[in-house]
Amino acid sequence: MRAIYYSNHGDAAVLTEGDLPVPACAPHQVLVRVSAAGVNPIDRRLRAGELQEYISRTFPVVPGWDFSGVIETVGSDVDGWRVGDEVVGLAFTWSVQHGTYAEYVPVDATAIARKPPSISFTDAAALPLVSLTAWQSLSEFGALQAGQSAFIQAGAGGIGSVAIPMAKHLGCWVYTTCSAANAEYVAELGADVVIDYTRQSYVDVIKQERPTGVDAVLETLYGDDISRSAISLAADGGAVVFMNNEPPELAEIEERELRSIFLHHRPDGKMLDELMKKYEAGQLPIPPVEVMPLSEAAEAHRRSETGRTRGKLVLQVQATE
Ligand SMILES: NC(=O)c1ccc[n+]([C@@H]2O[C@H](COP(=O)([O-])OP(=O)(O)OC[C@H]3O[C@@H](n4cnc5c(N)ncnc54)[C@H](OP(=O)(O)O)[C@@H]3O)[C@@H](O)[C@H]2O)c1
Repeated sequence: MRAIYYSNHGDAAVLTEGDLPVPACAPHQVLVRVSAAGVNPIDRRLRAGELQEYISRTFPVVPGWDFSGVIETVGSDVDGWRVGDEVVGLAFTWSVQHGTYAEYVPVDATAIARKPPSISFTDAAALPLVSLTAWQSLSEFGALQAGQSAFIQAGAGGIGSVAIPMAKHLGCWVYTTCSAANAEYVAELGADVVIDYTRQSYVDVIKQERPTGVDAVLETLYGDDISRSAISLAADGGAVVFMNNEPPELAEIEERELRSIFLHHRPDGKMLDELMKKYEAGQLPIPPVEVMPLSEAAEAHRRSETGRTRGKLVLQVQATE
């Protein structure tokens, strides 16, 4: 099969296009003929050699966890899925080898959901990882309710682009940060207060507007000062979700009864199915998706490395419709 892979860690140039054997399909898995693969920062961070203490590699590694496609093979222990079903999913594993930047990917049947017919394969491939992460952060862990408030750091990125509409869908008041070029974009996503972090301190703005703090913080950036600020912005009893690091060791977390976590997305086909239905019904808007051919995977990683992409990048792997 045609695939993008790397045989050693390094910069985007280690990404190679070539032929690899079609991976086997275990009894609890389905083998999916991949239509499109979503690009996430984790793909290039693993490629660069980060996070080896958490996630092991078996080279050559095909990057990518997000996908849409059509079921090619159904494992012998799998019920409820048939060859030809159009699906979307998160092919996350703690040991990477068979990713989604390839014509076929094996994935646990519990990690897939039906792709609604009205959502294109390329749009669908953009959604699983960021949607599951944001929903698990805001709704599940954050337990946000109508009338509450949230701060979503970096509103224009992949996470922010789905998290802002989710927080609005839950009935919350939303603060976010972005550069001036993305201010209109995040306002259209539903952000109530848009803070240009190049001109203002988001900590000062939020503390001035809401001295008692927000009910939930979704922190997508990292650094000691940033982590401490995230804690300081939460209201007593509120939730602080870190995307990249453990919560800082601060006495006030316990003293103010904060719930704080380094949340790592969890593949969950049932939750993804519910979210896809919300996208299908227009209750959640699909973020803007820039589609690039699979052969431009290295360029997609370089674009992601700029830290300036808006919405989502998706690689078109092959035509399946
Ligand atoms: N734990 C998990 O399960 C999990 C899941 C997904 C992602 N993550 C992590 O979460 C982070 C965000 O992921 P993502 O997919 O949203 O990344 P992304 O799409 O690459 O984010 C790019 C966006 O970040 C914004 N940005 C950059 N620097 C900023 C700053 N100082 N303040 C505010 N906005 C800034 C940019 O907007 P401007 O150009 O306007 O600055 C750009 O739109 C990454 O570190 C990723 O690894 C973790």
